[in-house]
Amino acid sequence: MKIRYFGHSALQIKTDKHEILIDPFLDDNPVSPVKSKDVKPDFVILTHGHGDHLGDSLKIGKRDNPLFICVNELAEWLKSKGLNAHNMHIGGSKKFDFGTVKFTIAHHGSITPDGQYAGEPAGVILNIDGKTLYHCGDTGLFYDMKLIGETNNIDYMFVPIGDNFTMGINDAVRAVEFVKPKVAVPIHYNTFPIIEAEPEVFKNKIESNGFSCQIIKFGEEIEV
Ligand code: NI
Ligand code: MN
Repeated sequence: MKIRYFGHSALQIKTDKHEILIDPFLDDNPVSPVKSKDVKPDFVILTHGHGDHLGDSLKIGKRDNPLFICVNELAEWLKSKGLNAHNMHIGGSKKFDFGTVKFTIAHHGSITPDGQYAGEPAGVILNIDGKTLYHCGDTGLFYDMKLIGETNNIDYMFVPIGDNFTMGINDAVRAVEFVKPKVAVPIHYNTFPIIEAEPEVFKNKIESNGFSCQIIKFGEEIEV
């Protein structure tokens, strides 16, 4: 599969048959070279309802009619806007055509842009083409990440490092120690001045702990 990073928390996963987006914040994302007109997902996974994660969901949803996958309350809100959504919740997993989705806890908030309660924020574990990906969503550090690491063999962990709204670099380094992924990828940094962070500093700390880190440039695609 191919994974493309758009900056912030936005990822595109392409398999032989499917295009999956996570948190498609594109048109208003100042660092993304890719805009909503350039994508055509058949699935969209959302970690929570904040505008920098919901992103262009309504626009893309009305245009391409993908299946949105997220927690119940946010799924109901998407349905109220006429979109196609599958309701899940934290701790539950489900197999879809492209692979398996499981939601995890995340310590953060969640509300839709029009002020509706959007349920609990989440992280998500995906099993696609034999690889396990853990996108932490927006979260502070929590000790149960250890359990997530012990019960899932995480290949790629997408971990926020930008501080202020989420973990900063030092906590993100602890998070990687808890989860023990094969590769850690920093996200949620340098989109805005308030979340400026130096991914090379994170990478150096991770590597001196014996873990590996891949910095994916905004817009760059990796083969996994
Ligand atoms: Ni958020
Ligand atoms: Mn965010």
